[in-house]
Amino acid sequence: MALAIPIAFLVTLLLVSVPSSLSTTLQQDFMQCLVDNSDVSFPITASFFSPDQNATLFKEELESTAQNLRYLTPSKPKPVFIFEPLYETHVQAAVVCAKKLKVQLRVRSGGHDYEGLSFVAEDETPFVVVDLSKLRQVDVDLDSSSAWAHAGATNGEVYYRIQEKSQTHGFPAGLCSSLGMGGHLVGGAYGSMMRKFGLGADNVLDARIVDANGKILDRAAMGEDVFWAIRGAGGGSFGVILAWKIKLVPVPATVTVFTVTKTLEQDGTNVLYKWQQVADKLDDDLFIRVIISPARKTTGSADRTISMSFQAQFLGDSNRLLEIMQKDFPELGLTEKDCTEMSWIKSVMYIAGFPNSAAPEALLAGKSLFKNHFKAKSDFVKEPIPVEGLEGLWKRFLEEDSPLTIWNPYGGMMSRISESETPFPHREGTLFKIQWLSTWPDGEASEAKHMKWIREMYDYMEQYVSQNPRQAYVNYRDLDLGTNKEGSDAREWGAKYYKGNFERLVKIKGEFDPDNFFRHEQSVPTKIG
Ligand SMILES: Cc1cc2nc3c(=O)[nH]c(=O)nc-3n(C[C@H](O)[C@H](O)[C@H](O)COP(=O)(O)OP(=O)(O)OC[C@H]3O[C@@H](n4cnc5c(N)ncnc54)[C@H](O)[C@@H]3O)c2cc1C
Ligand SMILES: *[C@@H]1O[C@H](CO)[C@@H](O)[C@H](O)[C@H]1NC(C)=O
Repeated sequence: MALAIPIAFLVTLLLVSVPSSLSTTLQQDFMQCLVDNSDVSFPITASFFSPDQNATLFKEELESTAQNLRYLTPSKPKPVFIFEPLYETHVQAAVVCAKKLKVQLRVRSGGHDYEGLSFVAEDETPFVVVDLSKLRQVDVDLDSSSAWAHAGATNGEVYYRIQEKSQTHGFPAGLCSSLGMGGHLVGGAYGSMMRKFGLGADNVLDARIVDANGKILDRAAMGEDVFWAIRGAGGGSFGVILAWKIKLVPVPATVTVFTVTKTLEQDGTNVLYKWQQVADKLDDDLFIRVIISPARKTTGSADRTISMSFQAQFLGDSNRLLEIMQKDFPELGLTEKDCTEMSWIKSVMYIAGFPNSAAPEALLAGKSLFKNHFKAKSDFVKEPIPVEGLEGLWKRFLEEDSPLTIWNPYGGMMSRISESETPFPHREGTLFKIQWLSTWPDGEASEAKHMKWIREMYDYMEQYVSQNPRQAYVNYRDLDLGTNKEGSDAREWGAKYYKGNFERLVKIKGEFDPDNFFRHEQSVPTKIG
């Protein structure tokens, strides 16, 4: 893929283009090592971003995809430099060189990590970031109903490239459209078609990964154990995913969407109670999630209520949808005028939060629509939360500035895949998953207050959610659950993310990356106990 250019020429190029002030820095050693270890064939400085070189540009690059602003505040450590590979060989060389220079490497694809693990290493300075945003090619092959998607592509770009070739193919991954394929699929990747087709990770056919020795391995070369591990273990534990081969799924030409909002005054609590009983049992074509937050009672009023938006994607037309809703969930009161029929790609954009007028090309921008200081947590629910439990929750929500919770229905295909098929264990018996969030605009000033709120709310909810273990979604990384630091029992947080799959993950990790080169605060450890 990369051009072969004589090393002597490259060294000259390097000497010409590296400012002398950097001559003794880690960055220069790293650049030199890259040249020695790959067919680097471009003015290498253009792929490096450091505060010494250009502080403004470094800041821009660091912030470009970083989603949780909580990890960009002044007190958070910053990488010595960011390296943006243009070719797969550069990723291989980056691994070799980080290892040789004994510097901690963080890999970033889409930058959406909830705990900033792709661009902040709190206890391992100095560290460097390899950002894959320039490796974002997506090749769709309709003949085999599959596609190769590089790690730096967003899921939105993947959806776009699929619909460019066919209006009746899709892929069942995330709802927001700016997620990096690198970090997203490796942790599971759920979206509005999960009840019909399972997770993104359930629809992976092959992968290319750079291991801790800098070798590129495909499925056959990595073996079935590692291929199993990377479909749910979460990012940063096993290697650098370069690309995924994904299986496309059939989608109908007509898809229907709706959003029906209820407040406390509109009997929202009882409708939500009913939703909890039916959402996982509805037709597999129907996905109704609920987005819950405080809202003003009336425009301009200071009084707040709780708003519950039932937002749906249905893989079919509105007539069949209305029949299903009439029979299984009449309490929502869905009417024909609530429903809008559209193409699958437009339904994806609707759910992702784009305005109706946005063209599919907006998916190519790869930009996040939401950036915030936030703390998030997750839960899985096995029994409906009783009305008094919901009322206690509303009381807490009304005491917080900008809390948000999103409830995603399970059932369907999710129940038909066994718990050990992939590391993602949240399958049969799960009614729905909860994501908890508190967001704030003002950086570190109010952080402690909001962190306290969400932790107390999470404690209150313990009685209503999955227990032994209290399960959590690894793609909603939550360092409160425990870390690899001494004094924290990996078995405890490992069970929350992976249940009984954790031990198998640890075993595979110990064999595949025995020196623990790929590591972070919550990476799969090489051994337990
Ligand atoms: C606004 C928002 C919406 C979301 N919506 C959904 C959703 O609908 N469905 C869902 O399932 N999840 C969702 N998520 C969670 C998302 O799946 C995870 O945050 C995921 O890890 C993002 O991947 P990334 O590449 O963007 O993140 P990054 O921050 O780049 O990476 C996340 C982790 O993976 C590692 N990593 C990155 N690239 C690679 C690679 N190429 N190989 C190996 N490891 C790598 C990083 O080091 C880090 O540990 C959402 C997150 C946000 C912030
Ligand atoms: C540094 O980067 C900024 C932003 O890209 C650019 O406008 C500026 O000209 C650069 N400064 C130097 C000295 O190259």
